[in-house]
Amino acid sequence: MAFPEVRLRRLRRSETLRSLVRETVVDAGDLIYPLFVVEEPGVKREISSMPGIFQLSVDNLKAEVEEIARLGIPGVILFGIPRHKDETGSSACHPQGVIQEAVRAIKKNVPDLLVVTDVCLCEYTSHGHCGVISNGEVDNDRTLPLLAEMALSHAEAGADIIAPSDMMDGRVRAIRDKLDSNGFTNIPILSYAAKYASGFYGPFREAAQSAPQFGDRRAYQMDSANVREALREVEQDIAEGADIIMVKPALSYLDVIRRVRDTYNHPLAAYNVSGEYSMVKAAVQNGWLDERRVVTEILTAIKRAGADIIITYHAKDYARWQIEGR
Ligand code: PBG
Repeated sequence: MAFPEVRLRRLRRSETLRSLVRETVVDAGDLIYPLFVVEEPGVKREISSMPGIFQLSVDNLKAEVEEIARLGIPGVILFGIPRHKDETGSSACHPQGVIQEAVRAIKKNVPDLLVVTDVCLCEYTSHGHCGVISNGEVDNDRTLPLLAEMALSHAEAGADIIAPSDMMDGRVRAIRDKLDSNGFTNIPILSYAAKYASGFYGPFREAAQSAPQFGDRRAYQMDSANVREALREVEQDIAEGADIIMVKPALSYLDVIRRVRDTYNHPLAAYNVSGEYSMVKAAVQNGWLDERRVVTEILTAIKRAGADIIITYHAKDYARWQIEGR
C-alpha cells in the first residue's frame, strides 16, 4: 500500500494523537543532575558560562537537594572543589573532604535521593590532570590505587553509585576490588566508559576549577573520530565489572550511544555536558531559540539514540516543565 491510501499525516493531526503514537518520552525519572560543591561555607556562586548553575557550599545543599527530589529527579552527581590541591590530589580521599561531607549532608537530609560521586583527580591536583604525573606524563598505574582509595572514601561516606571519569586503563577493576575487599560489594560502578577528549567540557572546567595547567587530556581521553574504539572501551569496563556504562559527551556522539546500545545490554547513561548546555543557554538568552522546545528535542534525541539515563544540567528545568504540563 502506498499513497493515496497511506497518509502518514493522519496520525499527526492533534496533540492527543501524536502523544498516543510517540515512540520516545523523556521522564524526569531518567535524569541525573550535576552539583558543584565547594569547601568554604556560605557559597552560592553562579558559573558565568553556565547560567542557572551554581557552585554551592555543603551548608547550601539541603535546600537544593530537597527541591531536586520534589521535582522527581532520582539522583545527583557530585563534583568537588577542594580548598587544597597538590601533586597527587591527596584531598580527594580525605574522610572530611568536600565530597565526603557533601554525601553525608545529602544522605542525612534526603536519604532516598541517589548520590553518584565522580571519581577523578583533576579537581584535586595542582596541575589539573586526571592522574599523577611521572616524567611529564599522566602515570596510569600509579594513579589506580589513588582512584580506588577515593572511591572507597566516597562509599564510606554513603555514596550510592561510584562513577570513575578519569579514563585510566584498569580503573574499574581497581575500584571494584577495593570496594569488594572493604565490604562494599553492593555499591554499583557507573563507568565513564567512552569519554572523549572534547572541547565541550570548557565551561565545566570553569565550574570545577579543573583545567589542566599544561598540555591537554588527549593522551588519556578518547579521540573524537573513533567509534570502534568506544566499543573496546566499553567491553573492557564491562569485563572489569562496570554495572552501568556511559558515553560522554552526548550530542556529537549520538551514533556512539546507538552503537553501544545495540552491542551491549547494560544500562547506558549519556552525559549532556557543560558546553552543550551553555550553547543552548546562550542562544536562548539572545532570543534565538525556544528553550523548552529545544531542550525537550535534545533530551529526546539522546534517549532515542539509546540512553536510559541522561546526566544533564537541564534536569531541573525539564522536570518543572513536565509538572507544569500535567
Ligand atoms: C572530570 C570530569 C570532566 C567532566 C566530568 N568529569 C571534565 C574533564 O574531563 O575535563 C565534564 C562534564 C561537563 O563538561 O559537563 N574528569
